[in-house]
Amino acid sequence: MGNEKRSNFTGKLGFVLAAAGSAVGLGNIWRFPYLAAQYGGGIFLLVYVILAVTFGFTLLTAEIAIGRKTGLSAIGAFKKLSSKYSFVGYLASIVPIIILPYYCVIGGWVTKYFASFIAGQGSLMATDAFFGSFIGQPIEPVLWFAIYLGLTALVVLFGVEKGIEKVSKVLMPVLIVLSIFIAVYTMFLPGAMEGVSYYLLPDFSKFSITTVLAAMGQLFYSMSLAMGIMITYGSYMKKDVNLESSVHQIELFDTGIAFLAGLMIIPSVFVFSGGDESALGQGPGLMFVTLPKVFESMTGGTIIGILFFLLVLFAALTSSISLMETIVSIFCDKFKISRKKSCLFVFVLSLVLGIPSSLGNGIWANIKIMGMDFLTFFDFISNSVIMPVVAFFTSIFVGYVIKPKSVIDEVELTGKFKSKALFNFVIKYFAPICIVLILISSVFSALGIISI
Ligand code: PFF
Repeated sequence: MGNEKRSNFTGKLGFVLAAAGSAVGLGNIWRFPYLAAQYGGGIFLLVYVILAVTFGFTLLTAEIAIGRKTGLSAIGAFKKLSSKYSFVGYLASIVPIIILPYYCVIGGWVTKYFASFIAGQGSLMATDAFFGSFIGQPIEPVLWFAIYLGLTALVVLFGVEKGIEKVSKVLMPVLIVLSIFIAVYTMFLPGAMEGVSYYLLPDFSKFSITTVLAAMGQLFYSMSLAMGIMITYGSYMKKDVNLESSVHQIELFDTGIAFLAGLMIIPSVFVFSGGDESALGQGPGLMFVTLPKVFESMTGGTIIGILFFLLVLFAALTSSISLMETIVSIFCDKFKISRKKSCLFVFVLSLVLGIPSSLGNGIWANIKIMGMDFLTFFDFISNSVIMPVVAFFTSIFVGYVIKPKSVIDEVELTGKFKSKALFNFVIKYFAPICIVLILISSVFSALGIISI
């Protein structure tokens, strides 16, 4: 990328909004609620928030500072600071390549739901079988996936992401207001309070190491960490922008939207499942199964449904655009090809990689990798394996190779680093030890050596 692009973010607001645009997406609205439902509700929320303010804060600060210090994106940045560690940059770059295809499969589901609400199929969508029979088909979900992926590719190809981002910046506050409205509405439905307490009150007997692993993977995913993206964003950030308070704002925005999504979706599971708690463990389909039921029970539910899925679509698009943009520029740089060629290549590659994730819910459902369907496997390998490894090396790199001081100096260009002690402790000890323990236990449990 040329130098003129590196000074893109004119001020703090521009930077925070752009980084939040990448961070806030399906991870917050689709992924967070089903994980929270699956991993014990309140205990997952508690672990997540603790990790967000320690780990999340520290890694986000480190990545943005590395980017701003070097003015380069991940591969170049690690190489410049210490050539021995350039493998971390490469490893980080693999993550978006794995995530983009299945992200767009889910994006396709959102597009389908938006279209179906417009077509007035709200009542049909509120039936139990609708979602399962839709994703189980061989052709239709693949077509919606291709449409969504194509939309993302067109925006990246024509470089109109600024337009999309502008629209989305107006729509994001609307999403927040609408989510609050839906959450409050659901809370007053009979049986909802049980769900609210399941989500908000931690039950410590539900705590396990997998809760921490799932929360950590979700944190990386949601804040676009451990995949080089925030390093790239940091490289665009001006030196006179306050890095620490920008990090706090991105964190607050990202965690706030995830929290609201949970408050909207989890209680409605209790309202509409007739007390059947197994509905909590249904995984990726949770949002698609429960929300149409909420909308169906509302007056004006069709309009709310259209609006909601439109907003989610925009939130998802700003994220998938930033994922594709990253991959396209890596390929441009590596293979010295034009942007157009690179874009076409990434489109075809993602289409090929995404089809198994879509078919894995239907005709390929019996093909399992380590007991997982394709989508779950891609999600697992990126979030629970590669991203923790990248985060581990990033913390070792900052803690012991370039030393925390180099990040601290970068943060202190605009004044005192208030959470310096926390940063130091997390980057040197808490992060690496925690990640190693969690990785070891998850590998052992995957191999069946211990059960957790
Ligand atoms: N953080 C995004 C989300 O929560 O939906 C997902 C994501 C977007 C990850 C962009 C990585 C990325 F580059």
